[in-house]
Amino acid sequence: MRLFAANWKMHKTRGEARAFAEELGGEIGGGIGGAELVVAPPFTALEAAGDPSGRWSLAGQNVAAEAGGAFTGEVSAAMLADAGCRYAIVGHSERRRLFAEDGPVLAKKVARCRESGLTPIYCVGETTEERDAGLTAVTLVRQLDALNGDPASLPLVVAYEPVWAIGTGRSATAEDCGNACVHIAEILSDRRDLRILYGGSVTPGNAAELLRARRTDGFLIGGASLSAASFAAISRA
Ligand code: 13P
Repeated sequence: MRLFAANWKMHKTRGEARAFAEELGGEIGGGIGGAELVVAPPFTALEAAGDPSGRWSLAGQNVAAEAGGAFTGEVSAAMLADAGCRYAIVGHSERRRLFAEDGPVLAKKVARCRESGLTPIYCVGETTEERDAGLTAVTLVRQLDALNGDPASLPLVVAYEPVWAIGTGRSATAEDCGNACVHIAEILSDRRDLRILYGGSVTPGNAAELLRARRTDGFLIGGASLSAASFAAISRA
């Protein structure tokens, strides 16, 4: 089953999320065959973005590394599960870069997801500098290290999001995307249930071409997921 996940980042109030949910429901009718849809709204809009008839599921955009306690501003995996989430995004490049999240803390976040039955959408991807220096492959290996302690029998989603493609309008080519996704699959060859997504300037215009990339099972979509019509169009690709 292909997976299409909308990462809204810090966009949309509850009212806007409700309007999106209504419009998305109209767009997809009974659902899109062969495609699983996920929406990752801000925490405050989780309830508003949900679908009572279950045609899409919810994800947290982030999750605390601790299970609970005195951690002002954090939201735990158990809280996300209680709010209806099936997934949590872990290690998005914006979290890595702007909030200094790295391997050890990300490994803890993955472990907290498992304790609450959430499936992590674990993000990896090289920067422009790493790419130009020929370090894409070693970067992926290093970032995937955080999954070493995670049981290989559990379902896992990995999103390949090259930093240079995020929000730039310059997506990876299907060839680059396929190469990276195949490499990720090789590194994680012991996993029994692994889906690999691509993320970075995916639009309705390039989705079909990118979906032809080798070992690519869907997308993690930022900007183009803010419109229900364009999120549905990408998911129909
Ligand atoms: P864009 O689709 O806006 O490039 O964002 C990608 C992304 O970061 C999804 O997590």
